Amino acid sequence: MNLFDAVNNRTSYRDGYTDKPVTREVLGKIMEAGLAAPSGCNKQTTSLIAVDDAAAVSQIKSLLASSMRAVDTAPAFICVLTERVIAYGDKCFAVQDYSAAIQNMLLAIVASGCESCWIEGYVTGDDNIGRQIADMLGVPAELDLVCVLPVGYAAMPVRRVAKKPFDARAKFV
Ligand SMILES: Cc1cc2nc3c(=O)[nH]c(=O)nc-3n(C[C@H](O)[C@H](O)[C@H](O)COP(=O)(O)O)c2cc1C
Repeated sequence: MNLFDAVNNRTSYRDGYTDKPVTREVLGKIMEAGLAAPSGCNKQTTSLIAVDDAAAVSQIKSLLASSMRAVDTAPAFICVLTERVIAYGDKCFAVQDYSAAIQNMLLAIVASGCESCWIEGYVTGDDNIGRQIADMLGVPAELDLVCVLPVGYAAMPVRRVAKKPFDARAKFV
């Protein structure tokens, strides 16, 4: 799949996955894509944990307590961690860094024949599910778990959401 096909096929998939496991080779390539992303001042503030151990996957599902089918049926998750360090002056680019890493991974996931969904709003809410998952995974306190990506093979049709027309959001001058 070429890059533009991956960009155009990517969508937030929240439906069920098949039982097919995602191999560590595939998960590793997805994480490599994430780590290849740019970062402010090359601080590389993003780190990743792929979880495919059945017991740990099940614990993440319990902590997420989500009704999303993709969460319920995911054979693996990639957890995104950030270290909110200063890049220069008073500027911290950690959010931009992990966003770039996540987008690279979402494209790599689609290019691998899998589907995912950027789950951040839910993980970083008031009940601090991100910290609970981080503690379960033994993540040190200076790293925040900000996003969880379920990874698996779609069991249901993948439907893309409508985007505003090109002209409403982009132009040539
Ligand atoms: C920063 C960010 C946080 C998100 N958090 C969630 C989330 O917690 N749960 C969820 O179902 N989708 C989440 N999404 C996915 C968006 O809802 C989705 O990208 C948007 O509806 C557009 O759909 P598309 O990804 O299919 O283009 C998040 C996306 C971003 C960029």
